[in-house]
Amino acid sequence: MKKDEFYETKILRLNNEANGVSIINDIVVFTPYALTDEIVNVKINEIHKNYAEAKLNKIIKKSNDRKEPICPYFYDCGGCNLMHMNYNNQLEFKKDKIKSIFKKICNINIDIKNIYSYNNLNYRNKVVFKVKKDKIGFYKNNTNELIDIDKCIISDEKINDCLTDIRKFIKKYKDNNINEIMIRICDNKLMINIDNINKQLQDKFINDFNYISSIYIGDKLVYGEKSLNEKVNNLVFNVSPKSFFQVNHITSENLYNKALSYVDNCNTIVDLYSGTGTLTILLSKRAKKAIGIEIVKQAVNDAKNNLILNSINNVEFICDKVENKIDKLKNLNIDLVVMDPPRSGSDKKTLKSILDIQAKKVIYISCNPVTLARDYNILKEKYDIKEITAFDMFPQTYHVESVCLLELK
Ligand SMILES: C[S@@+](CC[C@H](N)C(=O)[O-])C[C@H]1O[C@@H](n2cnc3c(N)ncnc32)[C@H](O)[C@@H]1O
Repeated sequence: MKKDEFYETKILRLNNEANGVSIINDIVVFTPYALTDEIVNVKINEIHKNYAEAKLNKIIKKSNDRKEPICPYFYDCGGCNLMHMNYNNQLEFKKDKIKSIFKKICNINIDIKNIYSYNNLNYRNKVVFKVKKDKIGFYKNNTNELIDIDKCIISDEKINDCLTDIRKFIKKYKDNNINEIMIRICDNKLMINIDNINKQLQDKFINDFNYISSIYIGDKLVYGEKSLNEKVNNLVFNVSPKSFFQVNHITSENLYNKALSYVDNCNTIVDLYSGTGTLTILLSKRAKKAIGIEIVKQAVNDAKNNLILNSINNVEFICDKVENKIDKLKNLNIDLVVMDPPRSGSDKKTLKSILDIQAKKVIYISCNPVTLARDYNILKEKYDIKEITAFDMFPQTYHVESVCLLELK
């Protein structure tokens, strides 16, 4: 096999990143945008030690799962990866992905009864657009080529309306010095955070965008409200530019409710990787005491404000790494551990401490089944999986969120 050669091949399955997998001359080849059972013509792009990467050149026999992507930027922008697949097939792909990861990493067969989905377009409530003079959009995968876009159809309509206005502004003022713009919507109010702007344009920008509720330049609030409020289950949460908040509001609300459905009245709950404390505060309604641990100071400050906003007085937030603090909680008679780590998952020290704590239940929320399964391989010493439920938090992409209930053996 040589780079730039063309081959005809049958796609055997999809890998976790939804690339078509085929075998050509005994080498495993990954082809983005090819679907299972398709016969395709591919061009070899890159040859590695144990595998090769190819580019889809032509579809010879098309899968019934295939559809025309509705976004004109889909093949260039790299933000979404599944728009060439019917939505129901996307959901099946995600269920199968979790199952096959658990089979491969833990050698167990798990059953995913359901994957919940509430929206598959216009769901993102936060987007970070890149800017280069009069262009705004996203960088093409692994390049510094900016794809100029006028609409991102997985983002909220109001974010797209604001994008249209920003586009007009940067077309008019090409010397804007902006590199990045974050637009966020919470309960119908918009927040903008620009990394930088030409000083002479700052007042013009604020004037043109005075319909935005909160404008930050760098870390500085230059117009409007310091933070916005978002509602979850009738509780109110403060959201500031840098704090983590789930990007798909309806789906995250349902995910939180699934997690809450596993919680009986408890004495003490710990919520590891607690972000702005949304879940900790929801959980606190079912416990005498809840403790959240989160590394980002601003998120913990927001979380503390959220306690005041909701008149909650049985929650403590600790600002530190989970792995630094978890051992200190061992003597607290904890009946429930909830954890929602970043994509990289938890760490061995934390997982060993969870085994020592021996809470009756652990609820592990994960946006990456690979690290969920890896971490379960440690937790399985004392815990059984009772249920895993999948949520399509990020439709049109290969990502999948899941809530996993573990019970002490
Ligand atoms: C997926 S978010 C969970 C947020 C929260 N559960 C929610 O629903 O809003 C993961 C959080 O873990 C935090 N984090 C990452 N590594 C950490 C660590 N080692 N210790 C504590 N927090 C950490 C991140 O800052 C982020 O807020």
